[in-house]
Amino acid sequence: MRLFLGVTFVYAGLQKLFDPGFLSPGSPTYIGTQLNAFAAHSPIGFLITAVALPLPLFTGAAVLVGELGIGALVLLGIQTRLAAAAGALLNFVLFLTASWTVQPYFLGSDGIYTVAWITLAVVGDQGLLRAGPFLLRQLGLGQGRPQPPTLDPGRRRLLLQLGGAAVGLVWVLSILPRRRTTATVSALPSPSPAPSATPLVSPSPTGTRIGSLTGLRSQGFLRFNDPATGDSALVVQLSSGNVVAYDAICTHAGCEVDYDSGSKLFVCPCHGAEFDPAHGADVVAGPAPSPLPSIKVEVAADGSIYTP
Ligand code: FES
Repeated sequence: MRLFLGVTFVYAGLQKLFDPGFLSPGSPTYIGTQLNAFAAHSPIGFLITAVALPLPLFTGAAVLVGELGIGALVLLGIQTRLAAAAGALLNFVLFLTASWTVQPYFLGSDGIYTVAWITLAVVGDQGLLRAGPFLLRQLGLGQGRPQPPTLDPGRRRLLLQLGGAAVGLVWVLSILPRRRTTATVSALPSPSPAPSATPLVSPSPTGTRIGSLTGLRSQGFLRFNDPATGDSALVVQLSSGNVVAYDAICTHAGCEVDYDSGSKLFVCPCHGAEFDPAHGADVVAGPAPSPLPSIKVEVAADGSIYTP
């Protein structure tokens, strides 16, 4: 388990390090976009808003360095318990943000990672396969004597109690009812059919005006709030000329998707799901379980776009 957790954290850190969009504002995978989505759906959204959102680059860099550092320490067996506790804390924050709206809870990965890290923090590395003493000797930083592999009974009991309480907390939070969002798996409608071809011009459109064709063409997409659900939504014009709109809340875990005008896909910044607006917003990549719900739109003769 130590090897798995360590390698996974190093891999996650490297993936962010080599993602050119992770620290680039405007990119679909930009950390600031992810933080915005987390702030909207997480029970610690107020903390994200107050602490992380004002400093998105710092937050992104801290997560990246944290994952690399924790993974490396655990793999090398240096301060394994402390590193595992830091890993548990990081995954717990991800559980409360990135995985919070994934229901049932066992479909989200961060909760079980938190439990695994807590377990490693409790049992430690047992003195096995530790590079710490060797490295300390090489660096001339002391004897680097191996730590005793076992704890005294009192400390061991305390650690077990703390670990058990932490796992219990994660479990209780996992099964708490969530504020309903259209992104929870259980609340989703069945996969939406491909949108009917929206006539370029409707003779008598009704409803709420959400923008104009001119604005849509100059920007490549328009974002609006669906009056029916209050959700963020996106409208785009397909190469066929049809204008289509979809709910912009990712069906995986509730992040807000963006439109990538290069690939002409909706892209989720949180875990990389991609949806094709030309084919009913079908999932073409990533972990999303179903397409984005479609929203009816009509275009008036003057180019205004309406949703009923
Ligand atoms: Fe996970 Fe969108 S929320 S891919």
